[in-house]
Amino acid sequence: MSHAQSWSQPGVLDFFSKERSATGDVYPSEWFFLKDRLKENMSVLDIGCAQGGFASIMSENLKSYRYTGVDISEDMIAKAKLRHPGQRFICTPEGDLSALDGETFDLVLVLGILHLHERWRTTLESAWNHTGGALLFDLRETEGPTLSDKSISWFGMDFSGDPDQPELRLPYIVLNAGEALGEAMRLTPGAARLSRYGYCHPPSTAARTPLAMIMTSAYLAER
Ligand SMILES: C[S@@+](CC[C@H](N)C(=O)[O-])C[C@H]1O[C@@H](n2cnc3c(N)ncnc32)[C@H](O)[C@@H]1O
Repeated sequence: MSHAQSWSQPGVLDFFSKERSATGDVYPSEWFFLKDRLKENMSVLDIGCAQGGFASIMSENLKSYRYTGVDISEDMIAKAKLRHPGQRFICTPEGDLSALDGETFDLVLVLGILHLHERWRTTLESAWNHTGGALLFDLRETEGPTLSDKSISWFGMDFSGDPDQPELRLPYIVLNAGEALGEAMRLTPGAARLSRYGYCHPPSTAARTPLAMIMTSAYLAER
């Protein structure tokens, strides 16, 4: 099963049809930055948009905005189009935003995906290329060494409920906090300002990792 297919399992599609689509579902670390970036008539690019939950969140806070959601899962995009017929949705291969040509956006969101795929640096780099104003993204961090090997730290995408189907594993990438900051700076060249807001918590229950606590950090890179 491909990475895109793993996100198209019925249980995953069902989860994102209900969660992360209201302002109250936005994590405090995300809202800390997002609340000050919301401006009437703004343009938003949401990379890993699932079913466009953030379009609903924008609607709760703004009268007018332009939203483009991109996702690697065709099924997520099909559902997003049904839910938000007035907005633009595009299915793209991982790390490939060529469908957007040179378009830039006031705000680019990359939330909840970077720690779950190996080529996260490419995703972040291309997100920054399409950022006209600010880029909001999140990473998982630790004070210890970086964990990126999915045989040691992984996220179980077992939504099938079928015990005969081997569990699908995505990497659960937890970066050393210093390295995370260094990479965030390196991958957003020319940023006028880079801010971080992190908080510690136990890892996701779907994660298998040697760490008892991790830090989720939201970063805001501004042009
Ligand atoms: C955990 S959800 C995050 C949804 C939303 N961004 C949020 O924070 O609620 C992951 C979504 O991102 C998509 N996705 C995962 N990796 C991606 C990538 N490298 N590029 C674009 N979409 C990706 C999946 O198909 C899925 O719909």
